[in-house]
Amino acid sequence: MIRTILHYPDKRLRERGERVEAITPEIQQLIDDMAETMYAAPGVGLAATQIGEALQLFIVDIADENEPSDLRVFINPEILEREGDITWQEGCLSFPGVQEEVERAAHVRVRAQGRDGKSFELEAEGLLAVAIQHEYDHLQGVLMIDHMGPLKKRLTHRKMVKRAEEQAST
Ligand code: NI
Repeated sequence: MIRTILHYPDKRLRERGERVEAITPEIQQLIDDMAETMYAAPGVGLAATQIGEALQLFIVDIADENEPSDLRVFINPEILEREGDITWQEGCLSFPGVQEEVERAAHVRVRAQGRDGKSFELEAEGLLAVAIQHEYDHLQGVLMIDHMGPLKKRLTHRKMVKRAEEQAST
């Protein structure tokens, strides 16, 4: 089922995800819903907190359109190492129409559980590293706007508030 993606400044985007204690059928269903929602958007990542489920869970798929899908599920993720710097033009499904450069670590090592509940470790760089850090942020209630300088932050905030007001009035 395609779920509604919350848009900034919805306060639920500021909630921290709680630890997923067991991979229940409900969690499996949630993962399926998140994948369907992300592919429909379309986007390269989606955090549970973006659809109003305050849980430590995100998904990423950075495969190109012409490549087979490569869905990666991260449950209870921890970033163990961050190295180097990279600047990437980022978007976010919770900030429609916004694309801004964000500075991230160029390389990360992450530990998480997959959808089978098994723990895994992954080293990532480039777009995958950026996507992992972006989605991991969501689970802490941190958004891309928090990484912007004061001017861009103010402009983006205003743009999003105006958009939300326009949508509320139609
Ligand atoms: Ni996002």
